[in-house]
Amino acid sequence: MRLVILFLLSVLLPLVLSHGWDHLAGAYYQQNQGYLYGSLYADRAGGECPEECDCPPSFPVAMYCDSRGLTAVPTIPSHVKYLYLQHNAITALPDSALSNATNLVWLMIHYNQLTSESIGKKAFLKLEALERLYLQHNNLTSIPSNLPRSLLDLRIDHNKIEKVSPTDLEGMDNLTVLYLHNNGLSEVGSSLKALKSLILLDISGNKLTKVPDPLPANLHQLYVEYNSIDSVPEAFLSKFTQLQYIRMSHNLLTDKSIPANTFNVSGLVELDLSFNKLERIPLVSTTLQHLYLQANQIKEFTLGSFCSVVDMTNFSKLLTLRLDGNEISPQDIPVDSSLCLRQVLDIEI
Ligand SMILES: *[C@@H]1O[C@H](CO)[C@@H](O)[C@H](O)[C@H]1NC(C)=O
Ligand SMILES: *[C@@H]1O[C@H](CO)[C@@H](O)[C@H](O)[C@H]1NC(C)=O
Ligand SMILES: *[C@@H]1O[C@H](CO)[C@@H](O)[C@H](O)[C@H]1NC(C)=O
Ligand SMILES: *[C@@H]1O[C@H](CO)[C@@H](O)[C@H](O)[C@H]1NC(C)=O
Ligand SMILES: *[C@@H]1O[C@H](CO)[C@@H](O)[C@H](O)[C@H]1NC(C)=O
Repeated sequence: MRLVILFLLSVLLPLVLSHGWDHLAGAYYQQNQGYLYGSLYADRAGGECPEECDCPPSFPVAMYCDSRGLTAVPTIPSHVKYLYLQHNAITALPDSALSNATNLVWLMIHYNQLTSESIGKKAFLKLEALERLYLQHNNLTSIPSNLPRSLLDLRIDHNKIEKVSPTDLEGMDNLTVLYLHNNGLSEVGSSLKALKSLILLDISGNKLTKVPDPLPANLHQLYVEYNSIDSVPEAFLSKFTQLQYIRMSHNLLTDKSIPANTFNVSGLVELDLSFNKLERIPLVSTTLQHLYLQANQIKEFTLGSFCSVVDMTNFSKLLTLRLDGNEISPQDIPVDSSLCLRQVLDIEI
């Protein structure tokens, strides 16, 4: 249930936000949190709305200042919980900008012009209730210091971050979603390991040359596509208990760089190894459902990669198999493959 809600939030919200239905998102959240209108109005007495923003009377804990060409953060009344500042031209976040905004739960400040130098070292220090921080599409070169440990969802993708220090994310025990994609990271060391609640890590589109290791053991989704990864650690997947989705497409993986049995683990639902340099189909578990291997250099259809035994109960649960853009053709599929791959509707080759 928790996963489903998380998924809905992460899929619907960006959609809703990008379509400007912020009010709807607010209402959705309000309903879920069970806030009472009476207490909201009482809350409101202390604050007023800066003229460049909208503070809807029906949802006074939200303040909408998005997409209006702002270059600085307006004055924020202290009762505001949901602050929308995205799609502006804000260049700085000094220490004082959020010092009164101690009740913030969401801070949306993506698509602005923030640089790491322009964010005060203490800018986030007082935000002890902050759960969601969107900083994507700015000009940051590092993760801001003193981020609230209360964060659940941190999005800082599409910046110019080259390094993650161990202290940047230390103690964020409730962080479940971390977007670091499209930055300039060449390694992350062990800086992510301690994020014990992390479920989704997207670190695609960086400059990684190997799979980050160690990673948090609770991950469900790991996205490392569009890097320059040419090696996978030994027994890499045995460190995870919940991993279901792995995307490693558009890297430099070869047969030799993937230790035998790496992907022969139950629990995996989806494995994307497309656009690499594999010459063989890696051994996968019979429980895998979606396997993407298009645009490699595979020369042989090895049925043993999917099934070692075939009978009533032993067969592959694969539903999707893509092999197009390799060096094999439909004639290379053995006739008896339908016994093993009995759930695949259509092998793309
Ligand atoms: C913070 O609140 C104080 C007292 O209400 C006020 O004087 C000050 O201007 C506020 N600062 C900001 C940055 O909103
Ligand atoms: C942010 O980066 C963009 C694109 O690289 C650039 O055009 C802009 O001038 C930068 N802004 C600042 C404040 O550095
Ligand atoms: C994590 O969430 C729990 C339960 O809501 C809370 O008690 C705890 O303080 C949070 N941890 C941090 C680091 O904010
Ligand atoms: C794949 O994993 C299964 C289950 O752990 C195991 O029984 C089987 O021997 C493995 N296959 C190979 C070829 O090692
Ligand atoms: C095949 O299925 C049977 C149950 O019908 C099971 O006992 C056996 O271990 C399976 N063999 C393999 C290699 O998975």
